[in-house]
Amino acid sequence: MIIAIDGPAAAGKGTLAARLAAHFRLPYLDTGLLYRAVGKRIADRGLDPGDPAASAAEARALDPDELANPTLRGHDAGELASRIAVHPEVREALLAFQRDFAHRPGGAVLDGRDIGSTVAPDADVKIFVTASAEVRARRRTDELRAKGREVDFARILDEIRGRDARDAGRATAPLLAAHDAVILDTSTLDADQVFAAAVAIIETARRGPPVSPDSVLG
Ligand code: CDP
Repeated sequence: MIIAIDGPAAAGKGTLAARLAAHFRLPYLDTGLLYRAVGKRIADRGLDPGDPAASAAEARALDPDELANPTLRGHDAGELASRIAVHPEVREALLAFQRDFAHRPGGAVLDGRDIGSTVAPDADVKIFVTASAEVRARRRTDELRAKGREVDFARILDEIRGRDARDAGRATAPLLAAHDAVILDTSTLDADQVFAAAVAIIETARRGPPVSPDSVLG
């Protein structure tokens, strides 16, 4: 079973996807980490994130072992990731790795922006997790403060809006719910409620469409 989780920044995709993977005993790929790792390579080498050829070369040179680096989870790495993610050449270079992961025997859970639309259009279940920009900014602010960072809510809200615009506005694989995705608005839900709602969506999809008496009787 392939489970595709997409949605905007700080919507809670990662928390949900990791819990679903544990629950259904499936491998999990946080595809944002790929873009974050490419952004880090660019920054480490003093290259320009606006340069498509340099960014694509770093994407092709990426070693999956680099995904374990804890600094990739940081807020600044996310900003940089969204800058190199606009280049079609970068997205193309990262596609085969993601597709192979999705199509492992037994399936997988992947989260990102374009899993249901581009990486695994054949996913068994597609969930588009979203929440208002204010709620997402509040969650991100609380998360950073819990880690001891001094952050300003208004600045985080600005960045989230900027990232939404960049992710939704790019020409290749923009942030968009796949036509067959179930939209899960988490604005008023806590993590447990989001998880319960997602499990219900997956169980319903697994049962398949209801069989009508006519088709059973032939
Ligand atoms: O959840 P959050 O947005 O903080 O981080 P993320 O999922 O790690 O994504 C970081 C950035 O990588 C996003 O803003 C996107 O621009 C990009 N990304 C993408 O373009 N496609 C993906 N499948 C995953 C991430």
